[in-house]
Amino acid sequence: MKKVTIADFKRKKERGEKIVMVTAYDYPFAKIVDEAGVDAILVGDSLAMVVMGYDDTHRIGMKEMIHHVKAVANAKPRAMVVADMPFGSYEESPEKALRNAIKLIKAGADAVKIEGGAELSNTVRKLVQAGIPVMGHIGLNPQRYLTVGGYKLMGKDVAKAVKIVRDAKVLEEAGVFAIVIEHTVAEVAKVITESVSVPTICIGSGPWCDGQVLVLHDVLGLSPEIPYFAKTYVDLRGIALNAVRSFVEEVKKGVFPSREHYRSAGTNYLEELRKVLSKD
Ligand code: KIV
Repeated sequence: MKKVTIADFKRKKERGEKIVMVTAYDYPFAKIVDEAGVDAILVGDSLAMVVMGYDDTHRIGMKEMIHHVKAVANAKPRAMVVADMPFGSYEESPEKALRNAIKLIKAGADAVKIEGGAELSNTVRKLVQAGIPVMGHIGLNPQRYLTVGGYKLMGKDVAKAVKIVRDAKVLEEAGVFAIVIEHTVAEVAKVITESVSVPTICIGSGPWCDGQVLVLHDVLGLSPEIPYFAKTYVDLRGIALNAVRSFVEEVKKGVFPSREHYRSAGTNYLEELRKVLSKD
């Protein structure tokens, strides 16, 4: 099985084949999404919210990201493993970004993703020069929700849309191999997709992109709140809840474990054991 590379991403855009990326944060789900045929597995910093239960992505750092990248990489997926650079790991300087990106690659990532636009061009250049494939992330940057004023739809007015399109071009020039476009009006993503040579992968930015990405917990029905732009394909929460409820019920009723779930030592064993113990 040939590993998906950045050359495959490029080829897909040229051929008009859609790219599919989904998040995963651990070994079993990395195995499942890889078997399902995704091109890339994003170890997203969304893990702060969907796995750790925090209200935003600010509270996790390199330690948590490395831990989860290792779990995903242990699945040895055919899909490319993309690791998010968490809040605080790259903003200070390109040098700091490089040190942290190297840690993610050593943990098993095949590429890193960084939130931000033109202001990151030197950082992207530094990482790419060091041999690290970088995925850009523009439009809504959840790590900057405090300055944005929430998880807003971006690019509604043309002046702001122009900046997002320019960000995409600067990132392409700096060397990113793909760009995530999050929560913009669909027209902005369309214009960017037509104006850059690298693939665009959208979340909440409409259908005119080279690929789509979703948060796995939204796809599986495990998130408490699902954004309007995501789609839930199964009620895994309901399925898991019923399964664990059945376990609770069976233990209480003495139905589990039944005869096939344990091994017994034989007919005279209990008597013998009790006899020996009685001499203590
Ligand atoms: O962290 C994440 O899951 C992401 C996706 C929303 C693209 O960055």
